[in-house]
Amino acid sequence: MSLRLDLSTAFPRAVELTRGRTILGITGSPGAGKSTYAERLVRDLSTAGYAVALVPMDGFHLSQAALDERGLGPVKGAPHTFDAEGYVALLRRLREPDGSVVWAPRFDRTLEDPIAADIPVGPEVTLVVTEGNYLLYDQGAWATVRSLLDECWYLDLDEQVRHERLEARHRRFGRSPAEAHERTMGSDEANARLIAATAARADAVLRTSEPGLLRSAEQTG
Ligand SMILES: Nc1ncnc2c1ncn2[C@@H]1O[C@H](COP(=O)(O)OP(=O)(O)OP(=O)(O)O)[C@@H](O)[C@H]1O
Ligand SMILES: [Mg+2]
Repeated sequence: MSLRLDLSTAFPRAVELTRGRTILGITGSPGAGKSTYAERLVRDLSTAGYAVALVPMDGFHLSQAALDERGLGPVKGAPHTFDAEGYVALLRRLREPDGSVVWAPRFDRTLEDPIAADIPVGPEVTLVVTEGNYLLYDQGAWATVRSLLDECWYLDLDEQVRHERLEARHRRFGRSPAEAHERTMGSDEANARLIAATAARADAVLRTSEPGLLRSAEQTG
């Protein structure tokens, strides 16, 4: 860890990164608040006049049909249930803007499937924020991701709060209380352990448990 950041110093640091084409990664365990925090950061930077885009790693989930065919539905969210090579290829394109719009995929939590070419990243964008589980993971194609990020922040949230939020989100998206609990403490927790082991490679660790970080948290994925 080479940077000391908290929620108040993270924003000015992100502003410093809006020079030329820069890629900032945000990682952390399932339910740590990556999507929520990254959306908030990008919205605040956009409001302040910076050309910023948000490209979540989640867009590279394999389709539900592809997972079902391979019997991988129960472990959806594990490292091998994503197109890691596709994500690496997109990060490479984003690092070297050629004047055209790069279209990124987006994961839709209601459909439970990715949607191709849904997020435009125009040549004017100076900072691309990308967020997801395996940005610092060092196995297979994931191992290349770190070298394509200019900086990577790890979001750290109290485990009990993280479990509660994750379980509540699973219920909100249609799972029964028992299924939500099983998912949170089962496959999500196995992934959480893999991710927690990557925290030491982050440039900064941000504690996200501060209340009031988000007023519109309920609307986010
Ligand atoms: N500061 C906050 N206060 C209250 N609730 C929050 C806060 N941040 C996030 N949440 C809620 O916690 C849940 C998990 O947050 P979020 O989806 O952003 O996590 P994530 O790290 O992106 O998870 P995943 O790895 O599963 O994509 C969401 O339902 C979100 O609305
Ligand atoms: Mg998320």
